[in-house]
Amino acid sequence: MEQTKRPGFALIGYGGAGGWHIEKVRQLKELIDVRGIYDIDPHKSAAAEKNGLTAYESLEQLLADPSVDFITVAIPNDVHKPVCLRALQAGKHVICEKPVALSSGELEEMIAAAEQNGVLFSVHHNRRWDEDYLAAKKLYEENTLGRVFNIESRVHGSRGIPGDWRNQKEKGGGMVLDWGVHLFDQLLMLTGGLRVTSVFAKLYHVTNTEVDDGFKVFLEFENGLTAQAEVGTSNFISIPRWYMQGENGTAQIDWGVKGKIVMVSDWKNRDAVPVATAAGLTKTMAPRTAETIQEFPLPAICADVKDFYRNFVRAMAGQEQPIVTHSQIRRVMKLMEAVFRSGETGQAVRESI
Ligand SMILES: NC(=O)c1ccc[n+]([C@@H]2O[C@H](COP(=O)([O-])OP(=O)(O)OC[C@H]3O[C@@H](n4cnc5c(N)ncnc54)[C@H](O)[C@@H]3O)[C@@H](O)[C@H]2O)c1
Repeated sequence: MEQTKRPGFALIGYGGAGGWHIEKVRQLKELIDVRGIYDIDPHKSAAAEKNGLTAYESLEQLLADPSVDFITVAIPNDVHKPVCLRALQAGKHVICEKPVALSSGELEEMIAAAEQNGVLFSVHHNRRWDEDYLAAKKLYEENTLGRVFNIESRVHGSRGIPGDWRNQKEKGGGMVLDWGVHLFDQLLMLTGGLRVTSVFAKLYHVTNTEVDDGFKVFLEFENGLTAQAEVGTSNFISIPRWYMQGENGTAQIDWGVKGKIVMVSDWKNRDAVPVATAAGLTKTMAPRTAETIQEFPLPAICADVKDFYRNFVRAMAGQEQPIVTHSQIRRVMKLMEAVFRSGETGQAVRESI
C-alpha cells in the first residue's frame, strides 16, 4: 500500500500554549511530522532543543523550509496578525491561537491573505472539545430539559490575571480576549446558528486598571433564549461552570462533567413546606417536595481534542472542511467587539450577530 506523506508541522511561540500544541501533535505522529519550532526568546529555543525539538534560528528560516506545510501560531495576541500574515504569504497553512486577532478588520486581512495564497486558515477553538461544554450542548440539542430558556456559562479564578502580557492592553490582554473568546465561541456553537440580538456587558477592573480582569455579559437570542457568560479572577468561591434552565428541568455542570439534572415529575403538585428565615416566611421560594422531582446524572461524554488536528490534516488534503470556519470566527469577533462597545457605553448593543 502506498504510504501518504505526513504533512510537516512547525510551531511559532514555544510558551505555555505552544508546549501544549507540541505535546498533542507528537501524540499524532502517525499523521503529523513535527519539523520544529521558532520562538523569539532564545531561552525558549534552548528549552525546545532540550525537549528534542529543532529550533529554527529565525522566522525567515522556518518559513523558507519547504518541509513545513502548516504552522500553529501561539504567541501573544497583538502579534497574531503580522506573524500569521507572514506565514500565509509564505504559502503555509495556518492555525492561529485564539483570539484570532484584535479586531474584525485585522481578521479580514488574515482571511484575505489565506484566500489569495490558496491556503487554509483556522483558529484553535479547542474548548469545543471540553466535556462540560459537550454535555451542555447535548442537553440543549436533545431537549432533555424541555424548552431551554436560559444558559449560564462561567469560569472563575481567584488569582487575578497571570502576570505577563495578559495584563497589558497593547498586547491584547484582558479576560474578554482570553477566556471570553472561549465562552462566546461555545455559546454560539451550542445554540447552533441562532442569531444574537442584544449584548449587554459589564467589564471589571478589580486588580487591573488597564484591561478587564473579568466580565459579565448578558445575551439575548432571536427566539427569546437568554445566556450569560461570565469570567472572574477574584472569585474566592466559584459557582458552577454551567447552569441551564429548561421548562421541565435544570442542569448544573462543572468541569469534568460533574453535576446533575433535576427534572420536575409532577408539575401540578406544587405544595411545599415554607422556608422560614429569621425575618420572614416564603412558600414561593421553598424547594419542591421530593416526590415531585427526579434527579438524573449528566450524559456521558467522550471527546478527544486531537480531533482538531486530525480534521486540519484532512482539510489540508482536501478531504474535509476545517471544523472551525471563517464565518464562525467572524461571528465570535463581532460578539467580542459588541461586548467591548457595551462595556464602554454602558448600553446594550442591539444588532444581529
Ligand atoms: N486555546 C487555549 O486553550 C489557549 C491556552 C493558553 C493560551 N492560548 C493562546 O496562545 C497564545 C500564547 O499564549 P501563552 O499562554 O502560550 O503565552 P506565553 O507567554 O506563555 O508564550 C508566548 C510565547 O511566544 C513567544 N513570542 C512572542 N512574540 C513572538 C514572536 N513575534 N515570534 C515568535 N515567538 C514569539 C514568547 O517568547 C513566548 O515563548 C495566546 O494567543 C493565548 O491566547 C490559548
